[in-house]
Amino acid sequence: MKRLTNLTFAAGMVVALGMFFSSCEGPAGPAGIAGVNGKDGVNGKDANATCTQCHNSSNIIETKTLQLDNSIHFFGTTVAEASRAGCAPCHSSQGYLDVIANSPFYNNYSVKNVPSNPSPVGSCYTCHNIHQAYDSTDWSFTGGAAFNMLIDSTIHLDLGEKANVCARCHQPRPVSPKPNLTTPTATMTIGSYRFGPHYGAQSAIFAGKGAFEFQGSIAYIQGQHNGMACADCHMGETDGIYAGGHTFNMANAESGSDNVAVCQTCHVGLKTFDNNGKQTEIQGLFAQLETKLDTLLDKDGTGAYTGYTDIYDPNYNPNGRYKSSSTSSFTTAQKTYNASLPSLTITNTVAAAIVNFMLINKDNSFGVHNYPYAKALLQNTLENLP
Ligand code: HEC
Ligand code: HEC
Ligand code: HEC
Ligand code: HEC
Ligand code: HEC
Ligand code: HEC
Repeated sequence: MKRLTNLTFAAGMVVALGMFFSSCEGPAGPAGIAGVNGKDGVNGKDANATCTQCHNSSNIIETKTLQLDNSIHFFGTTVAEASRAGCAPCHSSQGYLDVIANSPFYNNYSVKNVPSNPSPVGSCYTCHNIHQAYDSTDWSFTGGAAFNMLIDSTIHLDLGEKANVCARCHQPRPVSPKPNLTTPTATMTIGSYRFGPHYGAQSAIFAGKGAFEFQGSIAYIQGQHNGMACADCHMGETDGIYAGGHTFNMANAESGSDNVAVCQTCHVGLKTFDNNGKQTEIQGLFAQLETKLDTLLDKDGTGAYTGYTDIYDPNYNPNGRYKSSSTSSFTTAQKTYNASLPSLTITNTVAAAIVNFMLINKDNSFGVHNYPYAKALLQNTLENLP
């Protein structure tokens, strides 16, 4: 009945519109010649032959989904940052794909279209070409191509496609103002709390590229993990559903224990990530650099300089120290507190040392990613500080 009513209504409308138009147009001319026939379309895919390569009873999608539930890529809250064009490339699935499609080498890392309903990084569509060819070749990687690093666009980074897909996001952001080591003792002013390379410094340390390489007593050599893909360790054998595989976690998110199974294939008998005390050694050098920076930068004598680590969030750091622009989102208390501080004017050497400190800090593997490089960077930076 309802359908019939609608049809009747529609027919009435056609008549009414026809009358309306005919009242202001002249008579129609003769009909044109019939057009050439179009080409036959490409045959559709046979669902049985292609869809079932993935959609089948093997649980291939479900197991990965479950593992992703335990990955910060999926449950993390920083997808909220995707509302900004410059943050969306690394904090949302759509933003990542947008930048790959529109600026392949990340020279411009702003998205063209800010996603209004951002999906988390952990969506299958972020890393795999899901529903492109509609067959199992779609497991290939979206962001596998080499790219120019944000921190220094003259560095063309190619860690192989299985690692490039991660490294595009897990790379430091550009540092502004950029320290210039050709004039090490010249000064520069740091105007923002957010001076530094951002959080995801891993690919820089892993590849041994993008840091400020001071000359010193240790040569910059790359470690022997160079050539491995991030997934070779982070997505190795699963430890329950809390480490390995598509959790991307190295330590079991529930028990906290190190997922050393992936290391033991090469390091026979290794019990923790602190292989031969190398992490302890790197942490020791890192602590020395931190103490040194504190001494140099603690202008008001109230606490330690830990850079981005504790200045980012006003809730965690109401007394965040160096001057930020008054338009920043910091607390009133924080802004007032900081108004009394001098802005940070330091030498290029000290500024570069801050960046190196943050790169090691944000890499957060303390030597596992690239032990000889991390050691040289810390030691040589220490030697160059006053
Ligand atoms: C390379 C493996 C693969 C192939 C081939 C594949 N799919 Fe999918 N499909 C996926 C994945 C992965 C998801 C997302 C699952 C998730 O996020 O929970 C998905 C999701 C879906 C969904 C749920 C809605 C959505 O978009 O998330 C439908 C419907 C679907 N696929 C239909 C098909 C059909 C029809 C075909 C064949 C024409 C096909 N798929 C081929 C992997 C595949
Ligand atoms: C689209 C960008 C993007 C890609 C691609 C990506 N990541 Fe991430 N990753 C992130 C972000 C953003 C976070 C932090 C999420 C949060 O806090 O909400 C993160 C977090 C992580 C963490 C947890 C860090 C912690 O502090 O607990 C690990 C480990 C990790 N990623 C490894 C990888 C590996 C390995 C790959 C490649 C297989 C990869 N990521 C690919 C953006 C990405
Ligand atoms: C080049 C990629 C990239 C861009 C661009 C980027 N981020 Fe991130 N961000 C990351 C990665 C990777 C992580 C997680 C690293 C880790 O945990 O080791 C992260 C972590 C964070 C975190 C910390 C999450 C936590 O749990 O501690 C915040 C907050 C954040 N980003 C905000 C932003 C904002 C705001 C912007 C834009 C102004 C932005 N990011 C732009 C890659 C990026
Ligand atoms: C952050 C990037 C990332 C996301 C998100 C991601 N994958 Fe993967 N996936 C990878 C990488 C890298 C590999 C290669 C792992 C290896 O070779 O060790 C892989 C491998 C696979 C494989 C083949 C190897 C295997 O372990 O069986 C399948 C199937 C797969 N992923 C399915 C999925 C599904 C389904 C989703 C979503 C629920 C998903 N992936 C989300 C990065 C990702
Ligand atoms: C040789 C194995 C190995 C390789 C290869 C590797 N990682 Fe790691 N990564 C580790 C270990 C082990 C840790 C954690 C150390 C710890 O928790 O003490 C770690 C730490 C991290 C973290 C910080 C996790 C956290 O909880 O804060 C991120 C993010 C990360 N790696 C990403 C990457 C990316 C991206 C790549 C490739 C460019 C990569 N890793 C290559 C072993 C590896
Ligand atoms: C594919 C083989 C391979 C895998 C897997 C691997 N490593 Fe290594 N690793 C090496 C080689 C080769 C060296 C350099 C030779 C050496 O010192 O043993 C090395 C060196 C190291 C070093 C610094 C040098 C030293 O004397 O200890 C650390 C730390 C380390 N690995 C930790 C790990 C951890 C932790 C894992 C697992 C998350 C891991 N490795 C996985 C091959 C591997």
